[in-house]
Amino acid sequence: MTTVRQLGVLTGGGDCPGLNPVIRAIVRRAIQSHITVVGIRNGWKGLVKAETIPLNLQAVSGILPRGGTILGTSRTNPYKKPEDLASVKENIKKLQLDALIAIGGEDTLGVATKLVKEGVRVVGVPKTIDNDLSATDVTFGFDTAVNIAMEAIDRLHTTAESHHRIMVAEVMGRHAGWIATYAGIAGGADVILIPEEPIDLDEVCGIIKTRHARGKDFSIVVVAEGAQFANKNLVKTTEKLDEFGHVRLGGIGDTLGKLIEERTGYETRVTVLGHIQRGGSPTAFDRVLGTRFGVKAVELVLEGKFGYMTSLQGNKVIGVPIEQATGVLKTVDKDFYQLAKIFFG
Ligand code: F6P
Repeated sequence: MTTVRQLGVLTGGGDCPGLNPVIRAIVRRAIQSHITVVGIRNGWKGLVKAETIPLNLQAVSGILPRGGTILGTSRTNPYKKPEDLASVKENIKKLQLDALIAIGGEDTLGVATKLVKEGVRVVGVPKTIDNDLSATDVTFGFDTAVNIAMEAIDRLHTTAESHHRIMVAEVMGRHAGWIATYAGIAGGADVILIPEEPIDLDEVCGIIKTRHARGKDFSIVVVAEGAQFANKNLVKTTEKLDEFGHVRLGGIGDTLGKLIEERTGYETRVTVLGHIQRGGSPTAFDRVLGTRFGVKAVELVLEGKFGYMTSLQGNKVIGVPIEQATGVLKTVDKDFYQLAKIFFG
């Protein structure tokens, strides 16, 4: 067992439902082992600036059903400026943090991996609504996002049917179409378009026309924000990049909606679900998974498993090297997409 008296916790990257259940579980499990927990504000930024809040029983009371993160978050990359990295290391000492738990996606965990190589004691907890991290069957936040998107598709169905329209629903999913595929299957979408497969406009319009020919004069098309036409660039809302070099996606739904209307002649409307998929209360599944990940993260710290992160494999929560999660992203496999395609049209 590693001696840890004080533990720092941070949440980095995009927020996601289930972060607060993780924070609560970390505090509850740490208290059991007489460890004090310090909350670091706004991801890695809080370690650059030494901005913290105490995390005790009172601080985490009532946060289980709450969306977002009580710690705040940012997309700060401490490896961008050498002086920021120096501050991070200095502040870890100054704040007397014997170890850190970093809760985040590929970027936050990527920073964690680099810090571990420099001797900082970090354990990771994977999070993303996109569900694109490898080495874990699923990340918390995904189930909530899928349920929100599914409910939106259900609602779009009734208005689409009443007006005999095509409804395009743009959902999140930067590199992977997990939300689109799951919500699309669950909501009975007629076409699902994902980043893993180039969009074939002829095929999409063909499916819609065939539906019309058999008397179904409305259709639902679900498109992931990262989906692309062959040989075309990603559709972005701005040219600006974040500190990890990511573009801000959004707008493929609009582009697609216009093209579908032009080609088919059917009236088309577009709904962009955006951050609604990330906000609000987590589902029971995400609360439980977050709780299990939080408890396991503290146990990995106690075992001295730095450079490891929590992972769901089957029904077991285990520790796996963080690098396994961030090396290659987990995209929708062909078989699963083929299954979804059975229900197109
Ligand atoms: O990575 C999760 C995610 O929700 C992506 O699906 C999306 O592209 C991105 O974050 C949006 O980020 P932001 O909150 O910075 O607009």
